[in-house]
Amino acid sequence: MSEQKAAQSLDCDLETFRHDLQKASELVVRLYGRLDEARITPAKTRTEIAALFDESLPEEAQPMEAILREVESNIFANSTLYLSPRFLGYINSGGNQASVLGELLASAVNQICALWHFSPAASEVEQRVIRWIAEFIGYTSEAGGCLLSGGSAGNLVGLAVARKRKAQFDAASLGLRGGPPLTVYVSQEGHASVEKGMVLLGMGCNQLRKISVRDDFTIDLDSLEKQVAEDRKSGYHPICVVGNAGTTNTGSVDPLNLLAEFCRDQALWFHVDAAYGGPAACTQAAGKLFRGLDQADSVVVNPHKWMYVPAEAACILVREPSALRNTFQVVADYLREEDETGADGQLDFKDYGPQLHRNFRALKVWMTLKAYGTRKLRAAIESNIEIMRHLADRIDQSEDFLRLAPVPLSVVCFQYRTSDTSVHKDEKYLDDLNSWLLDALEKDGRVFLSGTKIHGMKVLRACSVNHRLRREDVDYLLDVIRDVGRSWVGKAQAG
Ligand SMILES: Cc1ncc(COP(=O)(O)O)c(C=O)c1O
Repeated sequence: MSEQKAAQSLDCDLETFRHDLQKASELVVRLYGRLDEARITPAKTRTEIAALFDESLPEEAQPMEAILREVESNIFANSTLYLSPRFLGYINSGGNQASVLGELLASAVNQICALWHFSPAASEVEQRVIRWIAEFIGYTSEAGGCLLSGGSAGNLVGLAVARKRKAQFDAASLGLRGGPPLTVYVSQEGHASVEKGMVLLGMGCNQLRKISVRDDFTIDLDSLEKQVAEDRKSGYHPICVVGNAGTTNTGSVDPLNLLAEFCRDQALWFHVDAAYGGPAACTQAAGKLFRGLDQADSVVVNPHKWMYVPAEAACILVREPSALRNTFQVVADYLREEDETGADGQLDFKDYGPQLHRNFRALKVWMTLKAYGTRKLRAAIESNIEIMRHLADRIDQSEDFLRLAPVPLSVVCFQYRTSDTSVHKDEKYLDDLNSWLLDALEKDGRVFLSGTKIHGMKVLRACSVNHRLRREDVDYLLDVIRDVGRSWVGKAQAG
């Protein structure tokens, strides 16, 4: 074979490549080295950040050293730092170091996990990872599944399989005109991606029945039963109940065992959205809430939330693997088809989800599970729950804060009320104050919170799925809120 490089190859020589890799890893180490003192949000404005990238399409090659400098000073320095334990908004994982290596190695070997023979070892790793995830959350390890971009894709896939199995007409061939309108049920606290799934699958968001919740934000079973019966009477065809195993708003977990029983009685598909909460099923602190998860027909869980894997990595699990294949298998002349029942039991992941090109995201999950082991991961999840419950206790002990929801997992919803008790019952004042605070805290940059509404009131919402979280971080959170809140009080007095 010729030792000469192809005239148009984009590769550099191996020594230069080694040098660039080293430089890139130094950048990563510096990023991790500044986690304690760094702002969570950039100080620059949108316009200032946009200006950093105001460059025309490069015609000529630029030196890697210069590009890496730009990554560090323009991209890393202007990124929201989920890595930090003081990021307490949304449900975004703090990532982990083994996954950083996993992402690098996966992109180096560039496997397309569509057909087994495209990606023999990678397909086996993905298969193993799916079994491990199922086992970790207490689901059957006989389940089929695949890794996906996120929980939104997972809920979409779950609904697609439910429709295939329960529609009683061939929606794939006939479209939705082939039968009566299909209805799906989720509590009012269900994630917006369920609604998006209804839209994308053509079932229509009006056919998503949002069932009322009880005081603890779990689904009201009587209302569910009534709604299903009414729908049947009115000519709708109920197909699926989506149970929440950790809602985004408050972390509430529906009574999964009762929902499983109801779905069995009513011949409905039981899909569980455990995108956030699933990994807590293995904990002492919250495990008992998840009784019945093992009875679901399908479950979505996001390693890129509470298994500390960086985005993107979600997993759909389906009790009967054939249900996934029957929903997603397409045959094309230009793809070599493998028979799953063939001698080697080969596995083509293109038949288990909507994508054909699929990257090797399983590697970072596999490396996470191997590098830390379930004992450490479980301890980190337990610790997140314990620390967020400590935050809830601190709030309960403070006159100037009010907690607005129970804390079954690692979400705490609360309002800051100031030390002036005369405003504590003034809902409008508190709504305005807490909306203002969200913005002001983001500009301040020391901590990050997101918000939501509880019983129509605007609240601060703290959530952590970060193994770096310490008690001092949530104590600091309250100090920063009080500190930033002082300028609101000052403004109110001046106004
Ligand atoms: C309960 C729940 N389901 C689904 C999703 C959607 O997941 P993703 O953002 O990975 O698409 C989220 C995201 O926060 C979630 O909390």
